[in-house]
Amino acid sequence: MIDLKITFVLGTRPEIIKLAPVIRCCDRRDIPYSILHTGQHYSDALDTVFFDQLELPAPDYNLEVGSGRHGKQTAAMLAGIEEIILEDKPAVVLVQGDTNSVLAGALALSKLDIPVGHIEAGLRSFDRDMPEETNRVVADHVGDYLFAPTEHSQEYLRDEGIDDDRIYVTGNTIVDAVHQHRELAAEKSTILQDLALQTTEFGLLTAHRAENVDDPERFENLLEGVRRVAVTHDLELIYPIHPRAQDRLDEFNIAVPDKIRVVDPQDYLDFLQLEANAELVLTDSGGVQEEACILRVPCVTLRDNTERPETLEVGANQLAGTEPERIAASSKQMLMTQQEWTNPFGNGSTAEQILEILGKETEAHL
Ligand code: UD1
Ligand code: UDP
Repeated sequence: MIDLKITFVLGTRPEIIKLAPVIRCCDRRDIPYSILHTGQHYSDALDTVFFDQLELPAPDYNLEVGSGRHGKQTAAMLAGIEEIILEDKPAVVLVQGDTNSVLAGALALSKLDIPVGHIEAGLRSFDRDMPEETNRVVADHVGDYLFAPTEHSQEYLRDEGIDDDRIYVTGNTIVDAVHQHRELAAEKSTILQDLALQTTEFGLLTAHRAENVDDPERFENLLEGVRRVAVTHDLELIYPIHPRAQDRLDEFNIAVPDKIRVVDPQDYLDFLQLEANAELVLTDSGGVQEEACILRVPCVTLRDNTERPETLEVGANQLAGTEPERIAASSKQMLMTQQEWTNPFGNGSTAEQILEILGKETEAHL
């Protein structure tokens, strides 16, 4: 029997949120671990605020790679991760999701004699223009343990010739995260009062994805579509803005329409409280599509495709792209839906399942 020492490689807001349940589970089971932060996200509002609020220990290592072009950013992570893992000597490394930090973690580990597990494996948008799609595909093909959220994602992996013995269907840790924080958010968050919001009178917008905000025409169309929804349904749209989107608004000199209220990025409890009480969520985020589905809040996705088709299948979400007419039409439909769908992403025991599987597979002492 060996000790199951785990190193978590993470770098961005959604990875911190979705790995938190696994890290907590390690704490509960006294499983030793370390956290290697790439530093891809570094602003307090995207980074430390989540470590603090989710009561996670500070990272043991931080590569502080910061922002930059894909090649430079990923290369700096690769070099740093390799060096630290050789020193840290974990039994297994875990990465989560589809960011450049995940790509670097999985790729670095694939050349070392230490297995790497990919949490949220098998998601596919089939859009190779998205950097995230490349990152997912590579992480899945080099990963040793692939934790697929649903049977759908398992099928995608099989279709790409990946052996069944590397795939485990576990649900998504986002369900664990929502279950662990939803009540706490309702109890502790004062965001509705702070923003003077009445429930049922507002919608929530997030838009940060490169293919939307880095293209001024798409970004302006998206905002115009959201404005129409706000006017037609008399909803105020709250937009906690990602720094990337704020930078592009400034660069392209785009004015956000009046009915959309731009606010700072929110911490997790405040964001969950906004999400749970919104009439409608409009988003291009991956995690937000899942959370809206779990919270039974109708969602309109401001993209041409989604790697979360389960949300469409259960009727929780519609794909609207960025054309104003489609955003308006999808929003109208979603505002009329019965919010009775079943969450397809598991029952909130994903973190436990992942650790059980790792224990068995590595024959480690848990
Ligand atoms: C990254 C992920 C994306 C994920 C998102 C989560 C990739 C390719 N993209 O996008 O999949 O949905 O994180 O939020 O990995 N910036 C700051 N402070 C920070 C970090 C970034 O101001 O702490 C600004 C910088 O201007 C930077 C820009 O945001 O240039 C983009 O940051 P980057 O890490 O390249 O990608 P994200 O857009 O955050
Ligand atoms: N989120 C948050 N505050 C915000 C916006 C989002 O806490 O102001 C959380 C949200 O609840 C979800 C995650 O961040 O769990 C989604 O991250 P993001 O949209 O940045 O990335 P993606 O999921 O698209 O990769």
